[in-house]
Amino acid sequence: MNASSDPVSLALIGCGGIAQTHLEAIGRVPQVRLAAVCDTRADLAAAAAGKYGVPAVSSVDAILKDKEIRAILVCVPPAHHFDLMKKAVAAGKSVLCEKPFTLSVKEAETIRALSAAAGTLVMMASKFRFVQDVIEARKFIQSGTIGDLILSEVIFCSVVNMEGRWNSDARVAGGGVLIDNGSHAVDVIRYVVGPIRSVYAQAGKRTQNVRVEDTARLHFETDGGVIGMVDLSWSLYKHTPNYVNLFGTKGTVEVGWAQSLIWDAGEKTSRVFGNGYKKLDAFVNQIRHFADCIQKKTDPILGIEDAVESVRVIETAYRSISEKKWLKVRG
Ligand SMILES: NC(=O)c1ccc[n+]([C@@H]2O[C@H](COP(=O)([O-])OP(=O)(O)OC[C@H]3O[C@@H](n4cnc5c(N)ncnc54)[C@H](O)[C@@H]3O)[C@@H](O)[C@H]2O)c1
Repeated sequence: MNASSDPVSLALIGCGGIAQTHLEAIGRVPQVRLAAVCDTRADLAAAAAGKYGVPAVSSVDAILKDKEIRAILVCVPPAHHFDLMKKAVAAGKSVLCEKPFTLSVKEAETIRALSAAAGTLVMMASKFRFVQDVIEARKFIQSGTIGDLILSEVIFCSVVNMEGRWNSDARVAGGGVLIDNGSHAVDVIRYVVGPIRSVYAQAGKRTQNVRVEDTARLHFETDGGVIGMVDLSWSLYKHTPNYVNLFGTKGTVEVGWAQSLIWDAGEKTSRVFGNGYKKLDAFVNQIRHFADCIQKKTDPILGIEDAVESVRVIETAYRSISEKKWLKVRG
């Protein structure tokens, strides 16, 4: 059996696109040991297994029965997250699951209840919580450096052809760009600005040949009264250097892809505080944090409640699109 301080032996389920970054990150964190990879596509599992020198296991059940494996990293399309997590929790494994956590609040709450009953750790992967510039931006907000935060915005727009991909099949993805990119955006807001109280969402003009929204705008208000907006698209670039903008009474924080700035409204000067989005660093920080939590060195910075809430906000936003009105996220 494993001692709690042993490297965390982890199996990866789903060896597609995002798994490649996770695999590279795992290789840089000595406290995590990749034990096996699994994919329904034998060619993808074999390629990852060959590259990282681990077995390719074709059956998820075989992975879950392996007592040496302590943790599961779920990198399969969203419709499979719930079943995989349920099985993994029942097998006593810790779970890190890619976003969106589940396709419904009901499923997310079931996972919360099962993991609480089993005493297992379940975390949603949310890479932006592990981006240094986002962490710094949050500190500026919490310390009041830009005064009272009034307005905020998040922008995740870029051109990606989703025609024929699972991302645009609502049965697999749960929706379109709102759940796909929006799950990231909602968690960034909840982390940096605070819990989201109400939302009003709109689907934009559709330009791709898909049956889901390919552009969406989400207006929100937080429990603390901060108002803001999220723009999401697979079909346009907003051509702005920043993905998070925070406007306070004493200044502005701009979190950018290439650099991040804080602007002082008194001095009328800007200062660079970060060197932009470093994807691999974020994934390294995330998997290290997951291992720290398993080894009980720290508590999760993203608890199961955060995962459930992110699903709740997105689910409410879809309801807002169909009902065409502002809706409270809770109650
Ligand atoms: N954090 C990020 O930046 C980020 C980026 C892209 C995708 N994602 C998320 O990661 C997940 C995977 O997305 P992707 O783009 O890598 O998808 P993908 O299609 O590239 O890869 C998914 C893989 O899972 C395999 N698979 C499907 N069902 C399976 C099952 N039941 N058991 C084992 N393997 C199975 C597929 O064969 C495929 O190889 C999604 O939830 C997605 O939203 C996150």
